[in-house]
Amino acid sequence: MVKKAVIPAAGLGTRFLPATKASPKEMLPIIDTPTIQYVVQEAVDSGIEDILIISGRGKRAIEDHFDRNFELEERIKDKEDAMYDEVRNLSNLANIHFIRQKEINGLGDAIYYARQHTGNEPFAVLLGDTIIDSVIPVTQQLIDIYDQYESSVIAVEEVPRDKVSRYGIVGGEELNEKLMRLNALIEKPSIETAPSNLAIAGRYILTPGIYKALEKTPKGKNNELQLTDALVELLKKEAIYAQTFEGKRYDIGNKLDFIKTTIEYALKRKEFSSKVLAFMKEIIAQHEGK
Ligand code: UTP
Repeated sequence: MVKKAVIPAAGLGTRFLPATKASPKEMLPIIDTPTIQYVVQEAVDSGIEDILIISGRGKRAIEDHFDRNFELEERIKDKEDAMYDEVRNLSNLANIHFIRQKEINGLGDAIYYARQHTGNEPFAVLLGDTIIDSVIPVTQQLIDIYDQYESSVIAVEEVPRDKVSRYGIVGGEELNEKLMRLNALIEKPSIETAPSNLAIAGRYILTPGIYKALEKTPKGKNNELQLTDALVELLKKEAIYAQTFEGKRYDIGNKLDFIKTTIEYALKRKEFSSKVLAFMKEIIAQHEGK
């Protein structure tokens, strides 16, 4: 049973400067909802009851967002029912805990901070800057595989062959169209050495074995402890599966993806869709010089 999740959200967000100089990138809103709220909601919708957010210096806004704000609640109580409920419920979504990553030493190091919290249990990892829009929450899709194999499971997605060198890529034996049992994980391979075009996509179910693997893993790229390197270590001891998830992934830490996500999410919202679409048509016509 996977009941706990870890959301790493301590990173420096250097790809989104200057916005991320003093504000957490995980708090960047898509329309009116901070990215990390979508991530927490995905965990909750997947049956997760306990969430540990790995936070860091300058990330206090994340803690405040999932806490009560009595003054604000009092102010909107009689005016905006739906918004009052949403704001009020943010502190009740799950048992949310925080721990600070003291030095920003990479995603693997961030996960290692969760070892006491998750103990001997398997746990989900959801990157705090990545939203995945899907019918069945992606974490739920991975939990379904975990329940079958009781091994670590990584969400992967197909990327164009010529872009494999930007991602962590997996390789292995195909068990069905969507599921692979891994025999290789390579961070940013060249096109020639890539074992597939399936890229690691920001959602994982990990067994507690990952902590031992992290202890054995030397620092990697940027002199940081990389989760992908630790997964290579874990693979020596345990089976790991990769599931091609159903859904669409948005990496908010990347400016262009952030713009695209905002537009797509605006088009999904009843109150904005026709107005935004009309505006886009107008802008496109202007750009085409009509
Ligand atoms: P990224 O590599 O996308 O985050 O990590 P980053 O380092 O903040 O971004 P750039 O490349 O400098 O723009 C994915 C997730 O892991 C967290 C980040 O906060 C993000 O949500 N992370 C990363 C940590 O919690 N600690 C780390 O040491 C690194």
